[in-house]
Order: sequence, then structure tokens, then C-alpha cells
Amino acid sequence: MIKRIVTLLPQDAPLVAQLEREIYPLAMADTVEDIVDTIMSTDLSRGILSRRRIIGYLLAHDRGFSGEAYIADIGIAKRWQGQGLCSLLLASFFGETKRRGLDVTLHCRSTSYPIFSNARRTANYGYSIADDVLLADWYFGEYGVHEDAHFMRLKPA
Ligand SMILES: CC(C)(COP(=O)(O)OP(=O)(O)OC[C@H]1O[C@@H](n2cnc3c(N)ncnc32)[C@H](O)[C@@H]1OP(=O)(O)O)[C@@H](O)C(=O)NCCC(=O)NCCS
Repeated sequence: MIKRIVTLLPQDAPLVAQLEREIYPLAMADTVEDIVDTIMSTDLSRGILSRRRIIGYLLAHDRGFSGEAYIADIGIAKRWQGQGLCSLLLASFFGETKRRGLDVTLHCRSTSYPIFSNARRTANYGYSIADDVLLADWYFGEYGVHEDAHFMRLKPA
């Protein structure tokens, strides 16, 4: 099936919110207004379209004033996980941040840590790991998730 990577626009926010509610415990999902604010902060947020539906997203905040972009969240619809779609989003995102010479920062939950901690994979995106700080029990304990997280800074290689 044809899938297309697109730059997210404010009008995509309700579809992203719907997907977040599918992926995360309800209380953790952002409001449409929060997602609009994030999308409007930069043109680096990405979505994957299939049959006019958004089946995956990468939400980013522009911290361009400090020379960095922050990955706020990445999510893929459950039935599409494990098929390389996150990698497609990251390739599109990192391609643009690299072109702009931006550092990329994120808080990564333990279960997703292998996606970013693998130096070979980050090198494929043109980045190297500059900081990796373990934050014990950082990830959404208030919603009962309780995972460690890593604050990571990736620099253009
Ligand atoms: C995390 C998530 C975005 C990954 O999306 P995905 O489309 O399934 O990932 P991909 O299929 O593109 O996999 C990318 C690579 O990471 C690896 N990977 C993906 N999830 C992994 C995991 N949980 N543990 C270890 N490796 C993982 C894959 O093996 C693949 O490696 P490869 O390129 O060497 O083959 C998806 O599982 C998801 O939406 N999870 C729920 C939301 C979430 O937790 N987001 C992260 C917040 S920090």
C-alpha cells in the first residue's frame, strides 16, 4: 500500500490526537490544542499518510534559537508497528535537521531506547550520540506507566 511522508499541518491535529488515544493510555494523550501548538512551533513535525489516514506521526518542537530540535513524541498505529514506519519518519526528520545543522534532543522511554541508542543506526541518519543521561522512573509514573527514560542529545556527525 502506498504511504507518503508529509509535513504535519495544524489541520492534521485531530487525526494525530485520535492516533495518540489509540496508542497511549487515554489520560496521557495530548489535547488537539496542544498538538496544534506543537505543529505550529516548527515545520519539522512529520506524518505518514495511507489512504488519507495518518497512521504514524513524529511531533517536534523547534528550539532553533538554541540550534536544536526536540522530538516530543513518535507514534505508529498499532497494526502498523514493526514494519519500518518509524524509521521512515526518522529518516525524513533527521534529513531536514541535518540539512539545517540542528542538534536533536529527546526524552526516550526505555522500551524505545534501542531505536536511538544504536550508534550504527544514528550514524545512518547522519548523527552521533553526544549525551545520554539515565533518568530513573521518569516516564509517566503519574499515569501508572513507570519506565526509566534517557535524555539524549544527538549531534550532526
Ligand atoms: C516506538 C515506535 C514508534 C516504533 O515504531 P515502529 O514503526 O514499530 O518501528 P520500526 O519498525 O521503524 O523500527 C525501527 C527500528 O527500531 C527497532 N525497534 C523498534 N521498536 C523497538 C523496541 N521496542 N525495542 C527494540 N528495537 C525496536 C526495530 O527493530 C528497527 O530496527 P532496524 O532498523 O535495525 O530493523 C512504535 O512501537 C510505537 O508507536 N510505540 C508506542 C508509542 C511510543 O512508545 N513512542 C515512543 C515514545 S519515546
